[in-house]
Amino acid sequence: MSAEFISITFTNPSTELNPVPQPSIDPKFLVRYARSLDDYGFNYTLIPYDSSSFDPFTIGATVAANTKNIKIIIALRPNTIYPTVAAKALATLDQLSEGRVVVHFIAGGSDVEQAREGDFLTKEQRYERLEEYIHILRRAWQSSEPFDFDGRYYQFKQFSNQVRPVNGTVPVSVGGSSDEAYRIGGSLADIFGLWGEPLAETKDQIDRIYTEAKRAGRKDRPRIWVTFRPIVAETDELAWAKAHRVLDALNENRAKGLGKAPVSAPPPQNVGSQRLLEIAKRGEVQDRALWYPTVTATNARGASTALVGSPQTIADSILDYIDLGADLISIRGYDNLNDAIDYGRYILPLVRAGLKERAEAQRDVA
Ligand SMILES: Cc1cc2nc3c(=O)[nH]c(=O)nc-3n(C[C@H](O)[C@H](O)[C@H](O)COP(=O)(O)O)c2cc1C
Repeated sequence: MSAEFISITFTNPSTELNPVPQPSIDPKFLVRYARSLDDYGFNYTLIPYDSSSFDPFTIGATVAANTKNIKIIIALRPNTIYPTVAAKALATLDQLSEGRVVVHFIAGGSDVEQAREGDFLTKEQRYERLEEYIHILRRAWQSSEPFDFDGRYYQFKQFSNQVRPVNGTVPVSVGGSSDEAYRIGGSLADIFGLWGEPLAETKDQIDRIYTEAKRAGRKDRPRIWVTFRPIVAETDELAWAKAHRVLDALNENRAKGLGKAPVSAPPPQNVGSQRLLEIAKRGEVQDRALWYPTVTATNARGASTALVGSPQTIADSILDYIDLGADLISIRGYDNLNDAIDYGRYILPLVRAGLKERAEAQRDVA
């Protein structure tokens, strides 16, 4: 049993607690953040995509040039780049980083957000388009033999790609909680990304994904990525006090219209966020240390489920998900850089020690 850790890339010191209006890139901070992840044993960093934000490819190239081991997850929306161009761009960055690139596909959970960049397909159509997109990338990476493609969303003739990924392919990740997400991700992805739900619901989602993999005739199945926002302190008591300060700040900022989820924001269209808001109605604390008021305070915008406690409490909660089969653990805080360093110092080592104990225990009974 093993596990790898995912963080997210921040380009400047702005945070959800202390948001800087229209922040520009702080190159020194970007490099310092990326190197801290490398130094503290994180395995991946996600470079997210938003219609109003920085270009993930150039940020990714900067992270690659300034780090040694960390893998770079490029978030990509099919409507923003033609698939043949994406195949070459991802393979180029993969060669530059000596094989450290992953692509995370976003079908696009919001029609409004997609329309901002000229995408007027329905969500169902966006997932169908994603299916063609992934097939084209895989074919383009497979061989430099010219090929035609005649799909519903993409048609081209005699495209030949000379830029090959270092390991023959770039791992493909898909995130979401809708039926379409399970179908496309389950049948085609190497990695499936989920937001932080209680153990029972996460198990259900994992079963759905594996069912789709089987239905597609796959011998393998996607690795499972789960996402949390740990609020850690020396003791559980101190962590809960800190959690309430974080919540107060999130609610204050929201009331002031700061941040990306104003009070007037409509209910989210994507299923992943809808599920989180439903779960939040069932109670603030779920399972060992999952905390949902941060979900409600941000209208479940993106990764919003907190895990609250001492390093041991949080490590034990993460080990619960690893036992479920999720071996990619995405954790990011609210005090971005300082939290990433704290996680590297106190949480990652405890989870890895827990996994070692489990392996030894298994060896003893074998
Ligand atoms: C782990 C994870 C990471 C995601 N990253 C992004 C992102 O960077 N930008 C974005 O617009 N959507 C992101 N999403 C949203 C989804 O990719 C997706 O398009 C949307 O939520 C569709 O959702 P649905 O199928 O659950 O309705 C992410 C989702 C997950 C689970």
